[in-house]
Amino acid sequence: MNSPSNYPSTRVSIIGAGKVGSTLAQRIAEKNLADVVLLDIVEGWPQGIALDLMQARGVERHDRQIVGTNDYTDTANSNIIVIAAGIPRKPGINREDLIKINARIVTEAAKSAIAHSPEAILIVVTNPLDIMTYLAWEATGLPKHRVMGMAGILDSARFQTFIAMELGVSIAEVNATVLGSHGDLMVPVPRYSTVNGIPIAQLMDAGAIDRIVQRTRHGGAEIVGLMKTGSAYFAPASSTCLMVESIVLNQSRLLPCSVYLDGQYGVKDLFLGVPCRLGSQGVEQVVELELSDTEKAAFIESGKVVSQNIDEAKAILKTAR
Ligand code: NAI
Ligand code: 2OP
Repeated sequence: MNSPSNYPSTRVSIIGAGKVGSTLAQRIAEKNLADVVLLDIVEGWPQGIALDLMQARGVERHDRQIVGTNDYTDTANSNIIVIAAGIPRKPGINREDLIKINARIVTEAAKSAIAHSPEAILIVVTNPLDIMTYLAWEATGLPKHRVMGMAGILDSARFQTFIAMELGVSIAEVNATVLGSHGDLMVPVPRYSTVNGIPIAQLMDAGAIDRIVQRTRHGGAEIVGLMKTGSAYFAPASSTCLMVESIVLNQSRLLPCSVYLDGQYGVKDLFLGVPCRLGSQGVEQVVELELSDTEKAAFIESGKVVSQNIDEAKAILKTAR
C-alpha cells in the first residue's frame, strides 16, 4: 500500500470520520478530485472506513488513495483540511454543551492539522458553524482567505429543494440565496432566488414563500427530529465537496460560505455566510450584494448572536484550561 506521505497528488485530509466526514471522503474520491486522509480519534474506525472505500474502487473505477489514521503525521502536506470532528446536535445536548465540547475538539484539531500542513486551506463543518470557524481561524493564525465554513451551500440547497417541490419544477432550474449565520437566524433572500432567472415572487404567493423560508431555517432541525440520534450528512457532504472541488480545480465558483467579514455588509471581525469566489488560493473575493433595510437588519442580527456566542465559547475555553 502507498505510504500516505509518498504520493504527490492533491490531498484532502478530513478530521472526523463520522457520517459527514466519511460521506465526504466517498464523494471526493469518487469524483476523482483528490486523495483522501481520514483521521478520527477512535482507533480502527477511520482505517475501516478507508479500507471499505478502497475496496469500492474496484466497482467505482478510480485510483484515488484513501487512508484512515489516528495520527496527524499521516495528514502532512495536505492541500485542504476539512474539520468535521465533534458531536452533532441531538436531543439531550444543549447549545452550551455543544459549544463546550466542539470548541475544544475543533481548536485542537485545527492546530494539529495545520502544524503538519501549514499551507493548507481550512474548511470547517463542525457546529455551531460560524463560531467554530472563527475559533479555528483564531487558533491557527491562518490568513483569513484560507479559512472558511460550510453552511450557506447546504442552506441554499434546502431552499432550492423546497422551491422546486412547491412549484413542481426541476431543481436544475432553481437558484436560491441564503446569507447570514447557520441556524434559526439565517437569512434566506427570496429576491435573489429564481427559477430559470424568474424571481420566485412571480411564481408563488407571499404565503408560500414565507412557509418555504421558515422550513429552510429549520431544515437541519427537521432532519434531526426525524433521525433522532444524529443529523443530516448526505447534503452536508455534497455541499462541502462543492467547496473542495472549486478550490482543487481552481474554478472560482461563486458560492455562499462562512467567511471573514471586515466591514462588508456592515459586519466586522466575524465569520458569516455570504457569496464568495473560491479558487486555489481560498477565498478570492467576498461579493457584497445589495440588500434591503430589512434584509440587512436580519443579517446584522444573525451576526450579533454569533458574536455573543463566540464570547461565550472563548470564556468556556478559558475556564476549561
Ligand atoms: P458523527 O458523530 O457521525 O461524527 C463525528 C466524528 O468526530 C466521530 O467519528 C468522532 O469519533 C469524531 N471525533 C470526535 N472527537 C474527535 C477528535 N478530537 N479528533 C478527531 N475526531 C474526533 O457526526 P457527523 O454527523 O459527522 O457531524 C459532524 C459535525 O458536523 C457535527 O458537529 C455536526 O453538527 C456538524 N454538521 C455541520 C453541518 C453544517 O452545515 N455546517 C451539517 C451537518 C453536520
Ligand atoms: C444541519 O443543518 C445540523 O447543521 C446541521 O443539518
